[in-house]
Amino acid sequence: MTGTLNEPGSFLNGLKQQAANTQSPAGTAPWQILVVDDDAEVHAVTSLVLRNFQFENRPIQLIDAYSAAEAETIIQDNEDICLILLDVVMEHENAGLDFIKFVRQKTGNRKVRIILRTGHPGQAPEQNVIVDYDINDYKDKTELTAQKLRTAIIAALRSWRDITIIDANRKGLQKIIDALGSIFKLQSLKKLASGVLTQLAALLGMSRNSLCVSSGMTITRVAEKKLQIMAASGEYERFIDCGSEACLPDDIRESIKEAFQVKQTIKKPAALVAYSTSERGTENVIYLSGVQDLNEWETKLVDIFSLNAAIAFDNNYLNDELEETQREIIETLGEVAEKRSRETGHHVRRVAEYCQLLGRLYGLSEDEVTLLGSAAPTHDIGKLGIPDNILNKPGPLTPEEWLVMREHPVTGHAMLGKSERSILKASAQIARTHHEHWNGGGYPDGLAEESIPVFGRIVALADVFDALSHDRVYKKAWPIDDVTDYIRRQRGEQFEPRLVDLFLEHLAEFTGIKSRFPD
Ligand code: C2E
Ligand code: SIN
Ligand code: FE
Ligand code: FE
Repeated sequence: MTGTLNEPGSFLNGLKQQAANTQSPAGTAPWQILVVDDDAEVHAVTSLVLRNFQFENRPIQLIDAYSAAEAETIIQDNEDICLILLDVVMEHENAGLDFIKFVRQKTGNRKVRIILRTGHPGQAPEQNVIVDYDINDYKDKTELTAQKLRTAIIAALRSWRDITIIDANRKGLQKIIDALGSIFKLQSLKKLASGVLTQLAALLGMSRNSLCVSSGMTITRVAEKKLQIMAASGEYERFIDCGSEACLPDDIRESIKEAFQVKQTIKKPAALVAYSTSERGTENVIYLSGVQDLNEWETKLVDIFSLNAAIAFDNNYLNDELEETQREIIETLGEVAEKRSRETGHHVRRVAEYCQLLGRLYGLSEDEVTLLGSAAPTHDIGKLGIPDNILNKPGPLTPEEWLVMREHPVTGHAMLGKSERSILKASAQIARTHHEHWNGGGYPDGLAEESIPVFGRIVALADVFDALSHDRVYKKAWPIDDVTDYIRRQRGEQFEPRLVDLFLEHLAEFTGIKSRFPD
């Protein structure tokens, strides 16, 4: 997975084409563009040409530098610059190119996009410089008309936005992976929550700044109730070490307090403050900055996260029901993955129920059945590593996209596989083996028959039954007779024969579960 996400080339080009379909960042902060040129005239013209320029309802802000040296100091402490419009010849012949090396190598900034503009045709850099330093565009100043400049800037901003989203996703995943190794300490729970929060923010395509504040106390003990910051992402990460409300800026603290007071989600001009409370009374607020309008699905995602954070935190505070906490985190992750892939409704829940029924019919012990039911919901957790434009693509996948999609079992296994805890171990095994086929034709390992762990064989059947009998973004639900025909035909091919027999014999019980948990 990391291989794909790290690859700046073809993968991103694919993303770029899809960019028009993706959600716009909801923030209102301007796109920052650094203009580096020793010719004051160029600055004046650029600012004139871009006077009313907007991209995704956000204006731009031009930052002017008149030499490479000046540009170096500016770029060094501003990671939010999206694009550099860069002159090649300034204080010396190669000042522009040296500056690019500085940006990419010294500061390690691989995100910022670069458009080179030169007034000296014939000074074009070697092709390999363009490739090695990831330069977006190379233009002769005379050919760069106003319209062409605007078009080039739009393309570059799109690409910056996509890179930023992927980067945030990767960081979020990394935190989750780190946290899963030692999930039971409060500190690591915080890390886990921060990871999911980072993902959440990336997923909603908005500002990277968000906070998760928990009261950390039951409602009954109102008198001693104090706010505690449980997780934070982006710029707010600095608040987490302090942990208490005292270090928050006044306006943020007031908004959060207001949400706790009115006990419901509130919208502020610059933020969404999502409130939830667990059955035990732990209250939880997520503060998301830079959010304007969320659609229904996005609001739900925020609510799910907020509620599950509350549940996870109060378990952690109140007792050491380790298995319980583990189960809830697993469920949270499973649900998050499910919501992300727009599989609304009860997919995760149904798959767990089918698996338990199949396991019982198959003759597993009650302990094994319970374990299977707890571990099955995360079978697709590796889909968190799959870009939105592939995961939620309405139509068939291209061969390249399919390669990315097929990584989800291995990604999921890597995310969950570090833990020694029983549920997580089972989850990891299921994540890896749920697309293996009885006849050896599945992925990722091409295992066959009994060499596929029995949990994987069971989830495989349950997952496909559920996928076929419900709508997906890429297909409509099949009539139930077509589903059972398919499963019958795959007896001994995709699925273990005995499981297919049990499934068909007890079909009514499976369809009963289906109707108890509709989408
Ligand atoms: P999923 O949607 O959860 O589907 C799980 C499994 O159900 C699939 O695993 C496949 O074995 C079965 N399945 C689902 N729909 C169909 C269908 O129309 N025909 C048949 N014969 N089987 C079906 P598979 O194929 O390994 O796919 C794994 C995941 O890849 C899917 O999970 C889904 O997220 C994604 N995917 C597969 N095909 C497409 C597609 O055409 N477009 C998009 N956007 N995603 C796809
Ligand atoms: C998303 O999760 O919204 C986009 C995923 C990505 O581009 O990696
Ligand atoms: Fe899967
Ligand atoms: Fe699934």
